[in-house]
Amino acid sequence: MRDPRVSIVVPTYEEAGNIEKLLRRIREAMESSGIHDYEVIVVDDNSPDGTCDIVRRIGEEDPRVRCILRREERGLSSAVVEGFRRARGEYLVVMDADLQHPPEVIPRLIEALDRGADVAVASRYARGGGVEKWSRVRLFMSRVGTIGVKVLVREGRKTSDPLSGFFAIRRSAIRLESLRPRGFKILLEILARHPCLRVVDVPYVFQRRHSGRSKLGFGVVLDFLKQAWEISPMPRFLIVGATGVVVNLLVMWLFLAVTGSVDAASLAGIEASILSNYALHEAYTFRHNFRRDCRGRGPLARLLLYHRASLAAIITTYVVMRLLVTLAGLNPLLAQFTGILAGFALNYALSVETVWECGIYGGGGCQGGVREAGRRD
Ligand code: GDD
Ligand code: MN
Repeated sequence: MRDPRVSIVVPTYEEAGNIEKLLRRIREAMESSGIHDYEVIVVDDNSPDGTCDIVRRIGEEDPRVRCILRREERGLSSAVVEGFRRARGEYLVVMDADLQHPPEVIPRLIEALDRGADVAVASRYARGGGVEKWSRVRLFMSRVGTIGVKVLVREGRKTSDPLSGFFAIRRSAIRLESLRPRGFKILLEILARHPCLRVVDVPYVFQRRHSGRSKLGFGVVLDFLKQAWEISPMPRFLIVGATGVVVNLLVMWLFLAVTGSVDAASLAGIEASILSNYALHEAYTFRHNFRRDCRGRGPLARLLLYHRASLAAIITTYVVMRLLVTLAGLNPLLAQFTGILAGFALNYALSVETVWECGIYGGGGCQGGVREAGRRD
């Protein structure tokens, strides 16, 4: 049999009341839009209610449907990744089994990939999308979580709904080994690990759960916070920045002692900190990103770009240091420290952060993704 083009991965835990209806609606939705070469992979964590048996029974009639039974492992995200491993299609669709994600949206996700997107996110928060019936608490939690993620993880800003559990991706655009699945939010993991993805939103209305109950509990929320913290480069970015200050002043102090020239010492300190920051960002801050530079630049080109990105900070540090020493007679090291703080603030205001992750670590795909997703809203 020829490999199917589309693999639909459905993680399940206790969805016996939903799975049959879901599979039927998937079949109807696919057939009515003329997509026949697809497969459905249900990844079930040994549900006591027999979800997997139901799937296997249906699979006897319809060979496109199968169930992978996991006995050892538990967890939504890892189930999805397991489904990806077994999938044969170039397009991978992920959706819930409880009919909160209407299967009729799948053809629109596939169409978005056909038109060139790497990821198509079914979004509740794009214009035209929504949630059918949610408690205020759940709505509030989802909103706060979404905003929090966008603040912490730049890649999460490529879609209006980074916490969506309903999306399609182009298999060749991601590396499965780069994913560290945990908790519920596999889309966020995928986006953060692959900074060059072109992302597009497809609006949809999140439905009420058909039968059974949600597995989203307090533990899931905690997992999610841990995940966001780990994925976000921001804490590491700040840690590296702090080491840069130490390197800067240490080298300046050494140079002062050896040469006696305040200017030479200041510049040497600045350059040393730029080199060490750059090396640490490469090895540590962005170590999770599988393709650091979407434009394919080498490390040397990135180093030059990093200098350019830091230019405002370099000049500010030096000028502020010089002025404070000449006009106020301040100790050169103290003056340099003040200059570093001013330079940092200015660079930040000039949004050099953008150069870091979009220019160097995100490339055109980064900005392009934002715009494209916005346009479809
Ligand atoms: N294999 C497996 N293992 N599947 C699981 C597990 C697990 O440990 N936990 C949950 N699932 C399956 C459920 O059976 C369902 O098909 C799907 O994952 C989503 O679980 P729900 O319990 O229905 O989660 P929810 O409705 O609260 O959360 C959903 O909505 C979020 C949007 O707010 C999920 O789709 C999230 O991914 C989504 O982001
Ligand atoms: Mn659900």
